[in-house]
Amino acid sequence: MKNLMWCFIMITFAGLLVQCEADEQNDEIANLVDTPNGNNNLNPPPPGGGGNNGGNGGGNAGGGVIDNNVLDDRGLPLNVVSPADNALTAAKVELGRLLFWDPVLSGEQDVSCATCHHPDFGYADGRALPIGVGGIGLGPARRDGVNDDIGLVQRNSPTIVNTAFNGIDEQGNVNPNQAPMFWDNRANGLEEQALLPLHSFEEMRGHAFDEDETLEVIVARINAIAAYRNQFQQIFGGNNAVNSINIGQAIAAFERSIVANNSPFDRYARGDENALNPQQIQGLNRFDAVGCTDCHSGSMFSDYDLHTLGVPDNPLLGFSDVGANNRYEFRTPSLRNLNTTGPYFHNGVAGDLTDVLNFYRRIQGNGGGGPGNLNINPNVPRNQIDQDARNLRLNNNDVQAIAAFLQALNDESFDQQIPASVPSGLPVGGNIR
Ligand code: HEC
Ligand code: HEC
Repeated sequence: MKNLMWCFIMITFAGLLVQCEADEQNDEIANLVDTPNGNNNLNPPPPGGGGNNGGNGGGNAGGGVIDNNVLDDRGLPLNVVSPADNALTAAKVELGRLLFWDPVLSGEQDVSCATCHHPDFGYADGRALPIGVGGIGLGPARRDGVNDDIGLVQRNSPTIVNTAFNGIDEQGNVNPNQAPMFWDNRANGLEEQALLPLHSFEEMRGHAFDEDETLEVIVARINAIAAYRNQFQQIFGGNNAVNSINIGQAIAAFERSIVANNSPFDRYARGDENALNPQQIQGLNRFDAVGCTDCHSGSMFSDYDLHTLGVPDNPLLGFSDVGANNRYEFRTPSLRNLNTTGPYFHNGVAGDLTDVLNFYRRIQGNGGGGPGNLNINPNVPRNQIDQDARNLRLNNNDVQAIAAFLQALNDESFDQQIPASVPSGLPVGGNIR
């Protein structure tokens, strides 16, 4: 059996398309994908030109045409930025994909990253709160297994689509090593984040081993599988190529390849004024005017800061999630691809965008009554709710127009490939059927 992958890279309009076969030379591929400054041009400029609107640390490294017609400076960059020590190569992306789908990374070998971040649900899981270890099935239909004593995961599963851009600032700069991760920003960078679910009791570890043994056990398991051992050796080199750092790097590289930067809004931003309909343009104007951009700023529509809104607790949890700093602070989520990332808020209590917008109408102004079914969390005193949220100026007519604008931030052209098998031989994705 041959050990190595080699990959045709087809830069398509939608993103990166990689096709792999066994072969002995993948170094050249690395050169194809990487530029010396660590920028990777995964996505070509859209037809008719289009720059990357304001420099993402590397400018138009891929040769995009500078567009003088930019209608909005919040279009997503065409390039993703990798840490200097984790260049994005096609072979690494494919290894990361296998790890992402392989339940061998979980204690009971029944859960993979894809269990909660599945392309059928926009790389989230479509649930308010996920079921990890011991569960059976996928998405909203996933249920506890027999004798499953492990509860729900505490927070809503965010998508990994466009996490390559987490932390992007209003000038379009990304610092991949510092990129904030999780609803409370408690981790930095995709590389660091990737190893944390392995440790989590509810998500992946279960009863199989103690938390402090996690990496030792998982590394030993992967090292025992020849196909993995060979791929790690080829991609990372060295004597102990299967180690936790390289596992994190491969998974992070895969996640960085899952990009969707060609929504109708992005096309509009780059100069196609017909990409949004009149109602969406009205919604965009209202979104900016009423104050949403105080927090949902930049091309990911997030300032990546923590704010208190006073979202009510999810009763399924059985306790009150106090968020960051014990102050019910949660990170402003991106507003991209909301069509696949509901239900909304950190605990999934808002079923649809109308629920979300009605909740904002309740917290704005004097906070009295208002439409909708979500009450302000009784544990959060009114003066603790972020000023910018209390100062919103939504009126009756805004809900529909803003919801229409938010639809223009959807783009499902990201890579949705599911591997046919994983090197452990376990069911692809875990116990998800
Ligand atoms: C059982 C469900 C589950 C599994 C399995 C799981 N995740 Fe997650 N993931 C979540 C939840 C829930 C969060 C948010 C947790 C929080 O904010 O406290 C999350 C957050 C993330 C984030 C942060 C996204 C952001 O924008 O902040 C990334 C990246 C991620 N997961 C990748 C992975 C990877 C890689 C794996 C496998 C090694 C994995 N997840 C396994 C449920 C899961
Ligand atoms: C004070 C900062 C702030 C302002 C102003 C603000 N948001 Fe948010 N938004 C947040 C935070 C923080 C969350 C997450 C809260 C939580 O889950 O507890 C959020 C969540 C959301 C969500 C749910 C997304 C998801 O994936 O769960 C949507 C949709 C949303 N906001 C839209 C808007 C719109 C539209 C406006 C303007 C009417 C607005 N926001 C104003 C900070 C803000």
